Amino acid sequence: MGFQPLISLCIFTLISSSTLILAQQPYERKASTDCGTADNSTSVLGYTCNGLNRTCQAYLIFRSRPPYNNVSSISSLLASDTSQLSQINSVSEDATFDTNKMVIVPVNCSCSGEYYQANSSYVVLLGDTFFRIANNTYQGLSTCQALQTQTNISATNLQSGTSITVPLRCACPTKNQSDEGVKYLLSYTVQSGEDVSTISERFGVDTGNTLAANGLSESDFNIYPFTTLLVPLKNPPSASQTLTPSPPPPPSPPPPPPSGKGSKKTWVYVAVGVAASLFVLITVLAVVYYVVLRRRSPRRPIDSVIVIDSFEKPLKSKSEEESEEFLKSISEIAQSLKVYKYGELQSATENFNSNCWIKGSVYRGTINGDLAAIKKMNGDVSKEISLLNKINHFNLIRLSGVCFSEGNWYLVYEYAMNGPLCDWIYSNKSGQKVLSWTQRVRIALDVATGLNYLHSFTSPPHVHKDIRSSNVLLDSDFRAKIANFGLARSTQGEEGEFALTRHIVGTKGYMAPEYLENGLISPKLDVYAFGVLMLEIITGKEAIVLCGGEDVLLPDALLAMLDEDNAEEKLKGFVDPSLQANYPFDLALLMVRLAQNCIRKNPASRPGMDEIEQSLSKILAT
Ligand SMILES: *[C@@H]1O[C@H](CO)[C@@H](O)[C@H](O)[C@H]1NC(C)=O
Ligand SMILES: *[C@@H]1O[C@H](CO)[C@@H](O)[C@H](O)[C@H]1NC(C)=O
Ligand SMILES: *[C@@H]1O[C@H](CO)[C@@H](O)[C@H](O)[C@H]1NC(C)=O
Ligand SMILES: *[C@@H]1O[C@H](CO)[C@@H](O)[C@H](O)[C@H]1NC(C)=O
Ligand SMILES: *[C@@H]1O[C@H](CO)[C@@H](O)[C@H](O)[C@H]1NC(C)=O
Ligand SMILES: *[C@@H]1O[C@H](CO)[C@@H](O)[C@H](O)[C@H]1NC(C)=O
Ligand SMILES: *[C@@H]1O[C@H](CO)[C@@H](O)[C@H](O)[C@H]1NC(C)=O
Ligand SMILES: *[C@@H]1O[C@H](CO)[C@@H](O)[C@H](O)[C@H]1NC(C)=O
Repeated sequence: MGFQPLISLCIFTLISSSTLILAQQPYERKASTDCGTADNSTSVLGYTCNGLNRTCQAYLIFRSRPPYNNVSSISSLLASDTSQLSQINSVSEDATFDTNKMVIVPVNCSCSGEYYQANSSYVVLLGDTFFRIANNTYQGLSTCQALQTQTNISATNLQSGTSITVPLRCACPTKNQSDEGVKYLLSYTVQSGEDVSTISERFGVDTGNTLAANGLSESDFNIYPFTTLLVPLKNPPSASQTLTPSPPPPPSPPPPPPSGKGSKKTWVYVAVGVAASLFVLITVLAVVYYVVLRRRSPRRPIDSVIVIDSFEKPLKSKSEEESEEFLKSISEIAQSLKVYKYGELQSATENFNSNCWIKGSVYRGTINGDLAAIKKMNGDVSKEISLLNKINHFNLIRLSGVCFSEGNWYLVYEYAMNGPLCDWIYSNKSGQKVLSWTQRVRIALDVATGLNYLHSFTSPPHVHKDIRSSNVLLDSDFRAKIANFGLARSTQGEEGEFALTRHIVGTKGYMAPEYLENGLISPKLDVYAFGVLMLEIITGKEAIVLCGGEDVLLPDALLAMLDEDNAEEKLKGFVDPSLQANYPFDLALLMVRLAQNCIRKNPASRPGMDEIEQSLSKILAT
């Protein structure tokens, strides 16, 4: 397509101009390992003093490691206050932490010259280098460049026994963040395997806000281990957010039996040719739209860029009053949605006790003897509530209640006893039970059925936009339910079936190429992600596999293999080894071919969810 480069160009210009607006603090990137250069274009020397206040309360996350594994040794290493540190971590002042436990460290952050920092003092040990001090002892909470610049000692003259000041990386909220309700910034050291969305989720923060806080953009969200990421918080962090994820303990009473299956199917078949030409037409219109708009106002005031160039406004919390109002309106029209008092949720979760913690900001609660999942969120959740309130389908998680208290929303969902699919399919986890072949096909069909409903039978039609193994929950019979509709959006806009966005959010490995490159939104995004999910179910491998030290996308690994000779033979090696050949090979092959169609580069040539549902029902029935 000849206009493809044009779109990319447009999008590129948009992104580069918007990065400027959104950038609160530049991310340090890989520079932190390159001690020789003190390049100040990243935050490697420290976060710049661009905040509303020159001093503020800030938080660091430190991982307990001997000899820094108790309240007093960690407080003294990081110049924190022992009583504050013990309080915020809900432990006593003489407590010792398990190795690798995340510890919240409150610090006073202030401007020294042009950078924010919290000063701590450190006595150099034999064998220390600036890099070792910054990266190993301080776990990336300082950098070798900052140490070298501030101590004004040359790297070769660092002598043991010298006392030096270590600048710890912290920052205070900017005016814009403060306007959004952000009160604290938490310096989090990235661990391998983590990405912006998992870190944000842990602290109950919108991924887009974290990206913006670090000057990252939706098309450039790579982060590296041992660098710090700023997490913008509205409330102080709490001990429950630092627990390491573990599978939920088996609950006692079984959940209520599932309700009846969804509506009758009256599906429409749209010929691929029509879809393709529609796609071309829409793309042309979109380009014209962009070009005309950009011509009309070549130098638009900066703050209006986000609104005009994007079809979505960035996530913004409603005010307290608007939220109350929304709650009132929803409780009037909602038939099945219950509005809870905060006290009811407190008693359901033993006051949000860590015993009841599932993961992220999700707790297990017992309401009238029934189990429920209770998720605490801030930001505007009205879209998710409105959507879930309208839909009723066995394969979409049911929202049963809501609560609004002190600026936070609490959503009460049906409880899925067997937890997320990701806890079951990855074959490298030892000691876990293995899903049978039939269970796997059933789960794939369930997800396809749920998505088909979302694409074709909700009004207006919706795209989920974040299909992945952790957003598929399994009930006691291993029937699948799609969860987490936080990114879901209606596909009905001025452009009919398609929409364009600048705000690319999603999960690495599952995002369709046309979305990543051009921000194009259509139901085919979910089809792509579903294809990846199906490959994970069949192979027991994650969407991004490590291959010779490099990350490889599962679809790429598959396509590379299908290109080779004797592909069918190779496929046998591709299927999850824990199935131990207890599966019909012909059908596995059909599933792989179906997945291959779903991950086609051209969205128009991917099948619709209705077709996929039919194919999977046939496979299941065989
Ligand atoms: C970066 O450093 C150079 C020279 O050392 C200085 O001129 C420039 O103002 C600095 N830029 C920032 C953003 O601090
Ligand atoms: C904390 O750890 C340090 C260093 O390992 C040790 O000297 C100190 O006695 C410990 N303090 C407590 C209260 O356990
Ligand atoms: C931080 O500042 C507050 C108030 O100024 C003070 O009470 C607290 O002790 C300080 N903490 C540290 C670790 O210096
Ligand atoms: C932190 O240390 C730097 C350099 O040693 C010094 O200039 C600055 O005043 C100190 N800041 C505070 C708050 O003590
Ligand atoms: C940096 O420190 C981490 C621990 O914080 C360690 O695992 C890693 O190996 C260190 N990197 C290097 C290059 O030594
Ligand atoms: C660093 O040390 C050198 C000599 O050791 C001195 O000339 C220079 O002024 C010092 N710089 C700062 C910022 O203290
Ligand atoms: C803050 O937002 C205003 C408008 O909302 C914008 O003009 C300004 O550039 C933003 N500043 C930063 C540092 O993001
Ligand atoms: C800035 O300082 C003022 C007054 O000290 C305080 O009320 C406000 O909460 C501070 N803002 C932030 C974002 O820390």
